[in-house]
Amino acid sequence: MSNLNKKLGILGGGQLGKMLCQAASIWSIKTLVMDKSDYPASDIASEYFVGDINSEADVLNFGRKVDVLTIEIEHVNLAALFQLELEGVEIHPKPSALKLIKDKGFQKQFYKKNNIETAPFELFESKEAISQAIHYGVLNFPFVQKTRSGGYDGKGVSVIKSEADLSLIMDAPSVIEQLANIEMEIAVIAARNKSGEIKCFDTVGMEFHGDANLVEELICPANISLKIDEKAKQIAAEIIEKMDICGLLAVEFFYNKDGSLWVNEVAPRPHNSGHHTIENAYTSQYQQHIRGVMDFPLGDTTTRCPAMLLNLLGSEGYSGDAIYQGFEEVVAIKGVFPHLYGKKETKPFRKMGHITIIGEQMADIQQKAALVKKKLKVVA
Ligand SMILES: Nc1ncnc2c1ncn2[C@@H]1O[C@H](COP(=O)(O)OP(=O)(O)OP(=O)(O)O)[C@@H](O)[C@H]1O
Ligand SMILES: [Mg+2]
Repeated sequence: MSNLNKKLGILGGGQLGKMLCQAASIWSIKTLVMDKSDYPASDIASEYFVGDINSEADVLNFGRKVDVLTIEIEHVNLAALFQLELEGVEIHPKPSALKLIKDKGFQKQFYKKNNIETAPFELFESKEAISQAIHYGVLNFPFVQKTRSGGYDGKGVSVIKSEADLSLIMDAPSVIEQLANIEMEIAVIAARNKSGEIKCFDTVGMEFHGDANLVEELICPANISLKIDEKAKQIAAEIIEKMDICGLLAVEFFYNKDGSLWVNEVAPRPHNSGHHTIENAYTSQYQQHIRGVMDFPLGDTTTRCPAMLLNLLGSEGYSGDAIYQGFEEVVAIKGVFPHLYGKKETKPFRKMGHITIIGEQMADIQQKAALVKKKLKVVA
């Protein structure tokens, strides 16, 4: 069977699933998606199945309908994936790699074992064990607690600076790591296919929104030296190879004030830090993921022009049917590309879409970004 005729299954129908379907449709590849009803991918997938991506039975049923199975989110039922793999379904990322990545404890042990620089850490079983370690002076402030599983978008991460923050400690098996002295957070998206070909997109620089811990602004290429850019790409390539992943692997780094580069975490799927590739690279991350998981030659990752990516979050103080105030004004601006995820209801800080802004110079992009931020608001 030609790879073009294979049915691509995607677990998760959020915005990343939606954009994967859009990319697949360029080559008329059939996409089957499963998630809750009315999710962003529901009106664009070739076939949409309402089901629970955490249910073993639902994932099994769904997986048996497809030739190649992939994910847009890590929180999926693993037992079903291992079973489907035994039954011969081609799954990328492999369930074994996903198992490692889903648990931040396993991930950190992987970096340590492979001599990949990451924040120094220790594993703890419970809040009680953490409190004991503080009490006996084996654990000192400040530190960062991360629950081993279940976290996303900064939920499941607590920065504990002093005794005053003790109430923020979560009661769950956790990674406790050193607080990094960060100059800039950067990310590289790597891709690999079955033939072993590996390509990386240019490094991006990220900025976070203080209140919600969501990346708010991202620029490509990042404002870093060529040396750091190359080092980050080389580490991303090493991880995707060693984890034996096909498709995308987004690697988040802390570039520290002392010049060190620590891997923070990875995600084996399209990533928020790669949306801009739709407009600014020869190949989008979504196209690249499809190439990687369906074993086509990888696309060229060269950046065509600088870009800035803004998250379009629900405005504070508004909940209900979303209204995109200022939309017509911003779409009239050259190089401004809003993407709306089609979520009916807005809530404060909910990811409702993103805006990619391209231009010839970063200064010109920044000017347009200031205008977009002022004009475009999600209200109700
Ligand atoms: N060791 C650390 N030192 C300093 N800041 C940290 C550290 N670990 C995490 N952070 C901050 O918290 C943010 C979220 O952490 P992390 O990426 O591990 O969690 P997540 O919830 O999985 O993230 P995502 O937003 O990518 O889903 C980081 O981007 C960084 O800003
Ligand atoms: Mg992160």
